[in-house]
Formats: sequence, structure tokens, C-alpha cells
Amino acid sequence: MKVLVVGSGGREHALTWKIAQSERVEKIYAAPGNPGMAELATCLDIKADDIDRLLAAAKKHAIDLTVVGPEIPLVAGIVDRFKEAGLRIWGPSKAASELEGSKVAMKEFLRRYNIPTASFKIFNHAQSAHAYLDEVGAPIVIKCDGLAAGKGVTVAATVEEAHEAVTAIMERQVFGAEAGKHVVIEEAMRGEEISMFAFCDGHNAVLCDLAQDHKQAFDGDKGPNTGGMGAFTPAPGLVSEKDEDEIVRRILVPTLNGLVHEERPYVGILYIGLMLTEAGPKVVEYNVRFGDPECQPLMLRLKSDLVEVLEACVDGTLDKVELDWTTDTAICITMASGGYPGNYASGKAITGLDNPDVQAGATVFHAGTALKNDELVTAGGRVLSVCALGSDVEDARAKVYPLCKQIAFAGAHYRSDIGRRHG
Ligand code: AMP
Ligand code: GLY
Repeated sequence: MKVLVVGSGGREHALTWKIAQSERVEKIYAAPGNPGMAELATCLDIKADDIDRLLAAAKKHAIDLTVVGPEIPLVAGIVDRFKEAGLRIWGPSKAASELEGSKVAMKEFLRRYNIPTASFKIFNHAQSAHAYLDEVGAPIVIKCDGLAAGKGVTVAATVEEAHEAVTAIMERQVFGAEAGKHVVIEEAMRGEEISMFAFCDGHNAVLCDLAQDHKQAFDGDKGPNTGGMGAFTPAPGLVSEKDEDEIVRRILVPTLNGLVHEERPYVGILYIGLMLTEAGPKVVEYNVRFGDPECQPLMLRLKSDLVEVLEACVDGTLDKVELDWTTDTAICITMASGGYPGNYASGKAITGLDNPDVQAGATVFHAGTALKNDELVTAGGRVLSVCALGSDVEDARAKVYPLCKQIAFAGAHYRSDIGRRHG
């Protein structure tokens, strides 16, 4: 079969790498892809959110299955458009993608089904939001509605910071006029954060092993939030059996049932961001796609044929699927451009990927890379996902970090403590 992968990050390279291992697959296309994906797929010069052209390309190349990596095309309704055209596509519908597309809709959904989450209020006017902040004080969390590339949430330690966030969202409308119409103000939760991923076919769900992301830019969880600086899986001991049972019973099952009830059954991968609070696990957010970088170490450990799993999601036959993982631990280190997540330079030459030790010991997924005069250069904030397997977290760390040292580009930075907290 022919598969089209939509996206161009480390997550999409990892999905493409895993899809390429399937005996069922004869050809892979990627849109737009990246230089790493180009080694496995034919890259099409179409942006991930250009649904019209993606649809035309899928028809032209007789694609049997389209796999969508990022949230923007999902929230924009790529799945509905492909299905209307009679094409098979893996991912949630526009209606189901609202769980990530609108924080207001997400919180109201959680409330409708009594799913544990931070208590919250929604405001439609800046004035009443400011008045509420003066009443409740800090710490407090401000969330803008709509997609904001991970920048729409402020965990405010002081009331001043909280006021500033409301002003930015609603008065200065830094995320746009639409996103500035409402704001969610919610209780600041405390606890360990984990990402849970479940493949879903509308009615059935199969859980992936737990993965943990490291969101802050610098060691010791310091610095600004990023898309994710590294991850590892499995994460044994992170969640007690009791918590895991509660997550399934009180969060996953009611989420899927609620969406069925609302005639928007969930197909694809559901990413539930959770906080393990003193009062039990609570939902921080839903995402309607794989986490990046969590996807990379998960793909490294998955022994099952990913294409069979994706097809079972689309066909509604996940009840017949069991996921098979290696017992090894996989780790992923994000190598980022200097300055990320703020301003950074691009076009820096990348060296060391052909080092024999790197070739033998690491699986390197590309994210922000480009070819310039046949030379691999940096072209984004997160540049490479350097992954390795080990017998446990410590072993995986011991394997991956010497290999990261072999890879270089001007200004490169990465965290040296991925997995350390639980090693
Ligand atoms: P989100 O974009 O919803 O994932 O939020 C980004 C990050 O903000 C999360 O990963 C959490 O670390 C933090 N966060 C969001 N909501 C809360 C909350 N209610 N309490 C504490 N931290 C939160
Ligand atoms: N790693 C966090 C995310 O993909 O949103």
C-alpha cells in the first residue's frame, strides 16, 4: 500500500521510520517532510495545513492511507475532507479535534462528564476576568482559547502576572481576535505531569506504555516552556496501579464514551496530559495527536506493525490488537538551536550524523533541518531527536549522551538530565 505522512517534525520522521518497516507498505510520501524523512519517503512540497493540495496529492498518487502528525490540519478538518472524498485517513474528525482546538470547549466537555480536572471559570470580558483575579489571587492559571503553538497558557505565580496574561490575550489580542474573545482561568494544580497515549478506533482504546516529556528548556526544569526537550519510555513507578486504574476508569473511558454520546467518536491517537495531584489524577489538557518528542521513543520501542495498528483504528477493529513493546527503555534527546524557544539562527551546518558510533548506536530523527547546497543545516528551533535504547533509563542515558556529543552545529543546546529524575 501507499502511505502519505503529513507533517515535518521529529514525530513525523519517527512515524515514517516505523511505517517504512511494515511489510504492507510499498511506498511512502511525506508532505512536506524533512531531509531525514526524504531518505524513506518521497517528499511533496505541500504544507501540512494546505488541505486542498494534500487532498489533490492523495488522489493523484493513489494513497491508500494518510497519517496526520500535527494538530493544525486535524483541527481544520482534514479528516472530514478526506473521508468526504472517499479517502482513508488516520486521525480524529474536526468535531473530535475540538478537544485540542478550544480550551473552552475542552473544559466544558470535562465538566459535562464530570472528569477530574482543575476547577475553572470562563470569562468573555477582560473586566470581569480581572475582577475575578483580584478576588482569588495567585497562583492561578490563564489559558487562551484556540491553538497558540504551546504559548497560550500562563501559570502565574503572582496576581500581576495573571493580570498581564489576561491583558495580553483579551485586550492586546496577541493570539488573534478570535482567541481573545474568551479566557479560561483555572486553579493551579500541583504534582507530577505525565503524558498518556491511547490508540482509539471510535469505541475501543489501546494504551501505549507511559512516556514522560521534559518541557522546560534547561536542566533542572528551569527556563521557559518548549515543545519538549526530551522524553523517555517506559516510565515505571511513575504512576501507581491505583492511579492508572483511576485514569482509565474516571478519565479515558468517560472521554471516549462522552465523544460517542456526542456523535463525534474519537479515531486516532488521544494524548491525555495529566497531573498526578494529591486528590488523584486530573486532566491538564487533551491533544489530538502524538506528543513530540514522546512519539520518537515510543516508536523505537514498538515491535508491532504500526500500519496494522493505524488501520485497526480506521477500521474499528482495535479490539483485536495488542501492542507489543520491547522491554528496553528508549530515550530521546532534543538537540535545539541556541536561543530556542526564543529567537534563534538557522542555516548552521550539522556534522557528526555519519560518525560510525552515532550510526551504530543512535536513531536520529530530523525536525528543523534542511539541505543547502547538499549540506545538512539547521532550519528550526528543535533540530534533531537523538534516540537510543538501553536496559533501563540509566543505561539509555549512558548510551545516548556520548552520541549527542558527536553531533554538532553552532549554538546547539540540549538538556543533560533527560530521564534523570526517574533513573
Ligand atoms: P497546556 O498547553 O494546557 O498543556 O499547558 C501547558 C503547561 O502548563 C502544562 O503542561 C502544565 O505544565 C501547565 N499547566 C496547565 N494547566 C495547569 C494547571 N491548571 N495547573 C498547573 N499547571 C498547569
Ligand atoms: N511534547 C508535548 C507536545 O507534543 O505537546
